[in-house]
Formats: sequence, structure tokens, C-alpha cells
Amino acid sequence: MELSERVSSLSPSLTLSIDRKPKSMIANGQDVCGFGAGEPDFDTPEFIKKAAIAALEAGFTKYTPSSGTPELRQAISDKFKNDNGLNYKPSQVIVSNGAKQSCFNAIMATCQPGDEVLIPSPYWLSYPEMVRIAGAEPVFVETKEENGWKMTAEDFENAMSPRTKMVIINSPGNPTGAVYTREELEAIANVAIEEEILILSDEIYEKLVYDDVEHISIGSLSAEAHDLTITVNGFSKSYAMTGWRLGYLGAPDAIARAMDSLQSHSTSHPCSFAQKGAFAALTGDQQAISDMRDEFQVRRDYMYDRLSKMPNLTVPKPGGAFYMLVNIGRLGLTSTNFSDRLLSKAGVAVVPGVAFGDDKTIRLSYATSLDIIKKGLDRFEDFCRSV
Ligand SMILES: Cc1ncc(COP(=O)(O)O)c(C=O)c1O
Repeated sequence: MELSERVSSLSPSLTLSIDRKPKSMIANGQDVCGFGAGEPDFDTPEFIKKAAIAALEAGFTKYTPSSGTPELRQAISDKFKNDNGLNYKPSQVIVSNGAKQSCFNAIMATCQPGDEVLIPSPYWLSYPEMVRIAGAEPVFVETKEENGWKMTAEDFENAMSPRTKMVIINSPGNPTGAVYTREELEAIANVAIEEEILILSDEIYEKLVYDDVEHISIGSLSAEAHDLTITVNGFSKSYAMTGWRLGYLGAPDAIARAMDSLQSHSTSHPCSFAQKGAFAALTGDQQAISDMRDEFQVRRDYMYDRLSKMPNLTVPKPGGAFYMLVNIGRLGLTSTNFSDRLLSKAGVAVVPGVAFGDDKTIRLSYATSLDIIKKGLDRFEDFCRSV
């Protein structure tokens, strides 16, 4: 049977499939230290689960409005204002089945054949595929390790063409952990404003920033930047709610209306009782969230300290998220070769950077216990010495 052109060149999510091998090794009783995780190892805080359970028991099990319940959209609008300095009315907020669907909706509603979308590389691997599904063309903007893997305004300007429709900013970033400063975002926003380019700002790792690093929403920098920005966020990473599938975005009016229609004909709306949990997450005590962040910081500090002292590797100190992108270029192996050998010889699972557009790097996630991090890094160090 002939498949549609839209899906025939599509590749499955590499991180999801790469994750399968170490998982099956663990299921077979093998001792694997996993640094591949793209999700917090913590459980969802109890008060959030209780709110969803109460909603189920109260019979909150029917369809909701397509863009989410009014109370949740209001809570998100308040959150955008209080945490991020963003003015999105509830009608400009769309709740979806994860930040992934929010990004997908945003790209589908705005991009089409003939358009180019600029994606700083290394990148989260779903962006280019989403752009391709929309019939548009991803254009990769190579970033440099010595710039902390961040796109400069100059890189942005140089990559632009008359067909550029959108630029994607992901801060804190996956796979790099890079966090853009206010000044860096201002310079990027100025270029976007000058050329009237939409900004898709994926802020899913917002709450996971360390030391004195500050998360800035690019859409908060000026009224002009706000009018061009679609701000994506969600519950997966900050609230340890990956399986709940809940994300959201704020967008200019016309784009929000288009996404509302798009979603109403695809997934209808996100799960009703999960939305009750999400409302509790946003409006409840945030202590559990900052406790998780503190634990991530301890792990980041430990992992960075170890990796930065290992010979023949380089790694910029990430300001956020829960990943480190390690340059293995000097060891003379491709990222896939390195990762395969590391898994089979040392029982350590990492993600090859080729999945994110850079074959000289590997990604280590510290969304796992400090004990596993210590044991895994001992093995990792021995393996690197033997290469
Ligand atoms: C940069 C980035 N954006 C979006 C997502 C998707 O998040 P969600 O689980 O809410 O769909 C991820 C998940 O890995 C991510 O890394």
C-alpha cells in the first residue's frame, strides 16, 4: 500500500527507540546504568495525583472544551503573567496532550510548503520532523560548543532567507542544557522583529535552572516580541507528569483560534481528570517542585565535576534541564559506535548525539539516582580510558 508522502520520509523518534535496548537488557536481569532518560525519575507529587483521583471519583469523566477547561486556562494565563511576565488571555491559551502536541499544533497552524523554519542545532529531535510533516523545510543553524551551544543573533541573521517563517528557541534546552540570557534573547528577538519572523519558544524545562541562572521568556521582552511569539510549556518535566500527557501554549489570537480548530478535529482535548491534576499542580504548594529541582542540581554538580575532569572529553556546564552534551570527538568514534560499545562493554546507556544532529557528542541525562550516576560514571571513565 502506498503511504502518503507526508509520512513516507518520517523517521520514528530515535530517543524512544534507543531507550528500548537498555530497557530490555534490564528486563533480562543485566546490570545497566541508564543515562538515556528524557523524563524525571521522581513520581508525580501526591497532591496532584489526589486531585485527579478526586476528579475521577466525582465523575469528571466527560468531554471538556477542546482547548482545555476554563479553570485550567485561567490558571495558565495567571501562571504566564506571574512567572514569566507574559500577557496571554485565557482565550489565547490552548491545553494539549503534552508540550509535544503543543509544538506540533503551533507548527501545523503556521507553517506550510515553501516556508523555512530555523532550528538551532543540536536540537530536540521532534522539531525537524514536525516541520517536515507541515510540508515546510527545517533549516539547521549550527551552534558552537564554545558558545555553550547557543545560537547568536548573528548566526540567526546569517541563516535567514526570504522564506524564513519561524525560529525555534528551546531554553533551557534539550540536549544541551543551555539557557539563554536576557541579553542573548533580546538580540535574537530584535532580529525576529525586524524581519517579522515567528518565534516558537519551547520552555518545557523552565523550572529546572541551577545556581543563579534565570529563565527568561523571550515573549516577555517587548510588546513586539510578544506578538510574534508562541510560548510552549507543560507539566511533564517540572511536575514529573510525563505520562499524564499535558502541555500548553500561549499564542497570538488568530494562531490560538486556528489551533483550537485543529485540535478539536484531531485529539478533541486533553484528558478531563488529568486537567484537574494539572490545575492542582499550578495552584498548589510548589515545595515538591523546588525539592526536585534541588535534587537535580546536586546531580548536575556531581556529574559535571566528574565529566569535566575526564581526559579527551569536553562539556560546557549546563545551566538547566537535566542533560549534558559531552564532546567525544577526540576519541575517534562516531556517536553511535561509541554508545553501542559503551552499552555492550560497560553496561552504560547514553544517547548518541547523531539523534540531535551532532555526531561528535553523546547525551547523558541525570534524571536518575546519585548512586546510579556514581556507578555509571566510574564505568564510563574506565571505558573512555580503554577506547
Ligand atoms: C525540548 C522538549 N520539548 C518538548 C518535549 C515534550 O514534552 P511533553 O512530554 O510534555 O510532550 C520534550 C520531551 O522530551 C522536550 O525535550
